[in-house]
Amino acid sequence: EKGGYDHFMLKEIYEQPSAILDTFRGRLLSNEAVIKLAGVEDNMKKFLAADRIIVVACGTSWHAGLVAEYIFEDLARIPVEVEYASEFRYRNPVITEKDIVIAISQSGETADTLAAIKLAKSKGAFVFGVCNVVGSSIARESDAGAYTHAGPEIGVASTKAFTTQITVLTLMALRLARAKGTMSSSEFRHHLIELETIPGKVEEALQSDAYVKTVADIYKDSKNCLYLGRGFNFPVALEGALKLKEISYIHAEGYPAAEMKHGPIALIDEQMPIIVIATKKGHYEKVVSNIQEIKSRKGRIIGIVTKGDVSVKELADHVIEVPETIECLTPLLTTIPLQLLSYHIAVMLNKNVDQPRNLAKSVTVE
Ligand code: F6R
Repeated sequence: EKGGYDHFMLKEIYEQPSAILDTFRGRLLSNEAVIKLAGVEDNMKKFLAADRIIVVACGTSWHAGLVAEYIFEDLARIPVEVEYASEFRYRNPVITEKDIVIAISQSGETADTLAAIKLAKSKGAFVFGVCNVVGSSIARESDAGAYTHAGPEIGVASTKAFTTQITVLTLMALRLARAKGTMSSSEFRHHLIELETIPGKVEEALQSDAYVKTVADIYKDSKNCLYLGRGFNFPVALEGALKLKEISYIHAEGYPAAEMKHGPIALIDEQMPIIVIATKKGHYEKVVSNIQEIKSRKGRIIGIVTKGDVSVKELADHVIEVPETIECLTPLLTTIPLQLLSYHIAVMLNKNVDQPRNLAKSVTVE
């Protein structure tokens, strides 16, 4: 059932190229330059009239929501707020009929997310579900939705659910960008063609596995770890840190790279590994100067870089390459080595990778 892999988590990490393809199926028609998402199409008027989108989710799904915030605002120019479902539901939030609430949930059963959408519905908002489990409570409770089609995710640490959530949300943002006219038809076409290359590029990113394992071996005994990223890759830094915490029990924090100097920089010493996402597109020069700041404090730097990178390579202790793509799609690639790094560290530390202590796959209590 693990298909020859030692753990479900590793199997699911490796399934990502095909899971993303499954998410595209019938939806991404690049020859015709069309995106088909019935849940969006059928409610286009509501989407076009919406003042803003509020994303509610927990954990990794919340991180996918943060990536979506950057993508929706950049491509479709729709204001987005991303909320922890557990905070949103108890805050007496301001919600109106002109709001669209997107609930993101792999299991579709997370109690706080379910309660958040019930609250939003009671205030007249339109609720759109992005779930993986077909027929789940959140899927049923939503007014419309789009499934991720990642297939069953067994490992407690979410991997392919995350990348397929980002895939669905990207398709939505592109479809809305086209409908709103915030994107030209040639830009739109270009994005579709790039999106179509992502499964192959994820496959290529997976080839860093053996090297990531050697990096894992060097840092497995660390007590702390810092993950940094900017823009589209800031949420990926948060997700990388969460993945490490939950399966290896090493303390890790994700930060926007520029926030480092407002506090976490105090933690840096010769022992501290700092994983920096520094792809060519997206504030590259600024991230390079953040790396210089770490270097001058003798931190150990692991750079996630674009294939062929030179500048970060000169500064970092290790670099892990991912293929080049357009900026808004980089999270789908930079996530891969971070998943592998957590996985290998946890295995080396003899932790229960698929069922970490104190965690459940589906959190049906608040
Ligand atoms: C992390 C993880 C959790 C879930 C969270 C939400 O790897 O699995 O943080 O992402 O409990 O679960 P869903 O997406 O099922 O609502």
